[in-house]
Amino acid sequence: MCGIIGYAGPREPVGIVLEALSRLEYRGYDSSGVAFFGKEGKISVVRASGKLSRLAESVQGMTGSPGTAIGHIRWATHGAPTEENAHPHRSGPIVLVHNGIIENERTLRRELVGQGYSFSSETDTEVLAHLIHRAYREEGDLARAVRKGLSGVEGSYALAVVCEESPGELVAVRKGAPLILGEGEGEFFVASDVPAFLKWTRRVMPLPPEVVATLSSKGVSLCRLSDGLGLPAVFEEVPWDPVQAEKGQYRHFMEKEIFEGPRAIMDTLEGRLGEENSRVFLPELVRLGPNPTEIVFVACGTSYHAALLGRLMIESLSPVPVRVEIASEFRYRPLRFRRGAWVIGISQSGETADTLGALEVARKEGYLTVAITNVGGSSITREAEATLLTRAGPEIGVASTKAFIAQVALVWLLALYLGRRESPDVRDSLAALVRSPARMEGFLGAVDRDLIDRLSRQILAARFAIFIGRGIDYPLAIEGALKLKEITYRPADGYPGGELKHGPIALVEPGVLIVAPLVDTRLRPKEISNIREIEARGGTVITIGPPGSGAEDPVPTFILPVSSEWDGVFYASAVLQLLAYRAASIAGNDVDQPRNLAKSVTVE
Ligand code: M6R
Repeated sequence: MCGIIGYAGPREPVGIVLEALSRLEYRGYDSSGVAFFGKEGKISVVRASGKLSRLAESVQGMTGSPGTAIGHIRWATHGAPTEENAHPHRSGPIVLVHNGIIENERTLRRELVGQGYSFSSETDTEVLAHLIHRAYREEGDLARAVRKGLSGVEGSYALAVVCEESPGELVAVRKGAPLILGEGEGEFFVASDVPAFLKWTRRVMPLPPEVVATLSSKGVSLCRLSDGLGLPAVFEEVPWDPVQAEKGQYRHFMEKEIFEGPRAIMDTLEGRLGEENSRVFLPELVRLGPNPTEIVFVACGTSYHAALLGRLMIESLSPVPVRVEIASEFRYRPLRFRRGAWVIGISQSGETADTLGALEVARKEGYLTVAITNVGGSSITREAEATLLTRAGPEIGVASTKAFIAQVALVWLLALYLGRRESPDVRDSLAALVRSPARMEGFLGAVDRDLIDRLSRQILAARFAIFIGRGIDYPLAIEGALKLKEITYRPADGYPGGELKHGPIALVEPGVLIVAPLVDTRLRPKEISNIREIEARGGTVITIGPPGSGAEDPVPTFILPVSSEWDGVFYASAVLQLLAYRAASIAGNDVDQPRNLAKSVTVE
């Protein structure tokens, strides 16, 4: 959704805010704005519709006084992406930026209009500005005004607020939507995500929900939203490398992040394997007690696809039965799982509203909950009883790539953890996982880029792309189709290979392209039969897999290294990601910020 940045410190803040916003652009990109103190102590608000570059043009040559400033990048929910609806919003001396949705906006708006407030935008945010202004007139203190102003507000919000009458002070608060505090040398930051200020500090503290933070160049003070009770601020250093949040020699973050897949696996395994890599340790799970009677994964989008792979892995290596649920559907169904089941939410960002909602429902129903996330301190880590962190580092491209690879590595670890250590299958599988980062690195280093380009052009030329797969290849197929759709905007869909003849095969005719990962050796003969059915109807087929084993087994169009089945998932995923990436770049699309999408979906 939207991205927020706030700065309190001695430096000129406009440049800092703009740079931070450029690192949040992946969260939303239909309009943006900045508020800063000018020379006479007045707050200037500059806003622009469209990409951040439009705002950069508008503020060119402007400088703010040292002290505080706030900025925002928007992904529209209430009101069109116009300059009027862009943040910051103002009411009297109060200026603020907001991420989230106010559910009782209409009631509040009516009440405020009745009291003489007028509105210049269609946003729910302007309601918050007026509410805090109204409270400020009574309280005369910004933090108290924020607490009072929000007392009747329903919904989710992350806010950064400044006041013209209190130039050195910035107040931030959140409920539902994320905010992270950063502590630099005599300066403080607040942002929707760490990469925004990673260049300046790695010392961070996720702002807890319903806690008000007051930032100035002197420090941060925290208090509870409900009663103002003071709380300590404890910053910790994140292991993220600022270079990971830069594009380096790559044209797009997505490309860079695909090539960071091997490191994401390696870092995710780090410290979790015993001596000589003989067993898996996940001490985070010990507090949950005995192994689960059942696992229920809940997730959205690409994380859901990682969960589907997790099911296959856990079911093949351990006796634990597994279900996989789409989070947005799960939360509105009665939950009837076994006693002792674990409900595991997978979320790269740890902020996806549907996944958080699903875990909350599961916890209320008495199930043990676990989070698998890439962001330590994110909301999902607060919701779940135990957290397993993937360590993909910051993922900036909207299309998830290395985070997916790290999720697969982690669910594979989980499968091994739940499996019997003495079992030869478990031992072999662990060895394959340990080998996989080096093999993936070697594979990506020598990847045939010309072939990727040729196949990408073929995909672009097709009228429609159908991705099919069975067994392990099914989650790969639907993930490949999702990647293609979200960044190329081309029609594509994924199906289990066996389902094709129950309907989708009617679509097959010349001009329709089929993409078939062939990683699952057990089901490969059946997949090949499906491919033959398509070829017989004039469809063109691209296959991605290790070399075949016999005359009947065709040579794949894109040959992967020979693998144990599971590490083949890494290589095939990288190829599917590269195909989507290249097709989108050839089509001239904005690869890292595809239209209509946001990196983390913090609203339902
Ligand atoms: O942060 P999450 O893993 O919870 O996000 C879930 C989906 O929104 C996300 O995977 C989305 O589908 C990606 N854009 C796919 O590339």
